[in-house]
Amino acid sequence: MKLEDIRNVASIGGGVIGSSWTVLFAMKGLNVKLYDINDDCIAADKKTIEGNIDFLVANGAIEDKAAVLSRISYTTSMEEAVKDAQFVQESGPERLPIKQSMLEQIETFAPVDAIYATSASGLPLGQITEKAMHPERCVGGHPYNPPHLIPLVEITKTEKTDPANVELAKAFYQMLGKEAVVLHKDCPGYICNRLQLAVFREMVDLVERGVCSVEDADKALTFGPAIRWAIFGHNMIMQLGHKDGLKGMMDMLAGGYNLCADIANWDTLPDDYGAKAQAEIDTMMANFPDEIGHNNHDIAQYRDKMLIEILKLHHKF
Ligand SMILES: NC(=O)c1ccc[n+]([C@@H]2O[C@H](COP(=O)([O-])OP(=O)(O)OC[C@H]3O[C@@H](n4cnc5c(N)ncnc54)[C@H](O)[C@@H]3O)[C@@H](O)[C@H]2O)c1
Repeated sequence: MKLEDIRNVASIGGGVIGSSWTVLFAMKGLNVKLYDINDDCIAADKKTIEGNIDFLVANGAIEDKAAVLSRISYTTSMEEAVKDAQFVQESGPERLPIKQSMLEQIETFAPVDAIYATSASGLPLGQITEKAMHPERCVGGHPYNPPHLIPLVEITKTEKTDPANVELAKAFYQMLGKEAVVLHKDCPGYICNRLQLAVFREMVDLVERGVCSVEDADKALTFGPAIRWAIFGHNMIMQLGHKDGLKGMMDMLAGGYNLCADIANWDTLPDDYGAKAQAEIDTMMANFPDEIGHNNHDIAQYRDKMLIEILKLHHKF
C-alpha cells in the first residue's frame, strides 16, 4: 500500500485520545469511523469531538466545520469500523488483555494490508501483538496528549514489523503534520514517558525532602528548563551552553560536583505523595488568575491556547 491509498481511517476507542485523533484525521481530509463499545460512550465521544472542533474553529485552524464533521461517522460495530480502513488507530484502555482482544477483532474484519497502530503509552508492542495474525503490519503510534495539537508521535516496531510499514506509518503521520520519531527497539514507556517520569521523580523527591513546595517545583520547571525545551531538546541546549559545545559542557560537568550521585533513584512512587500534593495543587488552582481558570476544563483550555502560540512559533499551527 502507498501513502496516497490511505483515505479511510478507523479510530478504535474514543475517550481522550481516540476523540482527539479523530478530529485530526478528519481535519486533514480523511474519512474516519470511530468505534466505541456502546451508545453512551459514543455520545460522550461526540461531545468531546465537537468541543475540540469548536476550539479549533475559534482559533482559526478549521474554516469549514461542517466539512470536518461530515467526514466523521460513529459505530458500535467493529466490522463496520474497520472493513474499509487502510489505517487503524487503536486508542482503547491501557490493559494488555483488552488491547490484545481489540487487535484480534480488528484483524478479523480489517483488510489484510491495513496498518494497525496502537496509541498505547507504555505496554510494549511485542506483548500487544504476540498473538497477531499479521504482526508485519503492526506498529505503535504513541501520541502526546492532545494529538490534534501536539506534533509528536513515537513509532515503535517489533522484529516482525515490516520495515516498509514503519516507513508508511511515518509518512502517514508526517502527512498529518506530525513529527514522528522511530524507536530502534521495543522499550517500555518509549522515549517521552521515560523522560517525563525521570524529571517527575526528581520533582517528587525534592518536595519529599522538603527542598521546595509543589508549586515552586512546577514554577522552576515551567519558567526554567521547560521554556527552553519548548524550543530545543536538551542535547542542543547543552551545545549552546558552552563555547566548546556539547562536548565542552560534558567535560565541564564531569570535572565538577557529581550531582548524578545525588539525584533520586528510588524505583517505586511514594504512596502518600498524591494526597499531599493534591492539596497544594487545589490551592494553586484556587489562586490562579481568572484568565487561567480554576477548574480542569478551563485550565486545559488555557493550556491549549498557550500551546497554539508555541506551535505557531514552530510553524506547526
Ligand atoms: N491520556 C493520555 O494522556 C494519553 C496519551 C498518550 C497515549 N495514551 C494512550 O491512549 C489509550 C487511550 O487512553 P485515553 O486516555 O484516551 O483513555 P480513555 O479512558 O479516555 O478512553 C478509552 C476509550 O476506549 C473505549 N473502550 C473501552 N473498552 C474498549 C474496548 N474493549 N474496545 C474498544 N474501546 C474500548 C472507552 O469507551 C473509551 O472511549 C491508552 O492506551 C493510553 O495509554 C493516553
